[in-house]
Amino acid sequence: MSDTVKVQWFPGHMAKTRRLIGESLPLIDGVVEIVDARIPVSSRNPELDGWLGNKPRMILLNKADVADEQATLRWIRHYAAQDILALPVDCKTGKGLNNFTDVVQRQLGEVLEKYKAKGMVGRTLRLMVVGIPNVGKSSFINRMAGGSKAKVADKPGVTRGNQWFSVGKGIELMDTAGVLWPKFDDPTVGERLAFTGAIKDMVTDVELLAVRLLDIVGMHYASRLEERYKINIPKQADGYELLQLIGKKRGMLISGGEIDTERAAVMVLDEYRGGKWGRITLELPKGE
Ligand code: G4P
Repeated sequence: MSDTVKVQWFPGHMAKTRRLIGESLPLIDGVVEIVDARIPVSSRNPELDGWLGNKPRMILLNKADVADEQATLRWIRHYAAQDILALPVDCKTGKGLNNFTDVVQRQLGEVLEKYKAKGMVGRTLRLMVVGIPNVGKSSFINRMAGGSKAKVADKPGVTRGNQWFSVGKGIELMDTAGVLWPKFDDPTVGERLAFTGAIKDMVTDVELLAVRLLDIVGMHYASRLEERYKINIPKQADGYELLQLIGKKRGMLISGGEIDTERAAVMVLDEYRGGKWGRITLELPKGE
């Protein structure tokens, strides 16, 4: 195993985000948290749980199209055991979003009942959409609100900067103004976000990143690499050996016949991020 990749990280706006989310809570009925189905742990900030109080919440396991289906099922069961509904979705194509509004109506049935008891029949349900950068928040809202982005006029008392979008069936989505950053305390979090490309510009050592990715994928999905690159992976090969095998197979050589591992690293990361290795999940629920 190689060293973990260091991510250049400058903590900044968490306090502001926390304040913005806090100010928005009285205005909403529930929260839609979007995570990346390939890395459901690293792509969320666990502090969010403490900020949301008792607001009903659902999780969208987005980019399910590039995640391992079996692993996604395990995540759904994992959340269900905590009484949290998690839906696998692909916000790029809209797969899994067809019945989103019905699911919300069901999930928030109690909230609707309470409104009804107060004489507010058919009251709009307002949901806040949260997630770290690049997880697919805009794709989700665009898909749900349609091309025209049915923006709802500014409401009194609404935190400035928050935007509301009507998505039909009496449901409105609120785009969070603040940026929810991941929590980088554990170095593997930054590394996994860099694998998927969520924070690719923050990583300087591309070769080490590719080696680390190959360490992990070589361990759990070796056959995918064998198929993709037509290589035979020797037992216990580490990421660097895999990178060399792949570079050699693709004819990436520098003068003197040495393998251009830097070029191979760029290709490896591009191909993984582009889904060329098939559906791969890099994190499973703890204890599994
Ligand atoms: P954000 O608002 O949370 O920052 O994320 P955004 O919707 O901008 O999505 C970030 C990237 O993730 C986009 O790719 C988007 O197309 C992609 N994406 C979103 N949802 C899904 C999904 O369910 N599956 C897959 N495979 N990709 C998804 P991009 O490379 O930045 O842009 P583009 O290639 O779409 O032009």
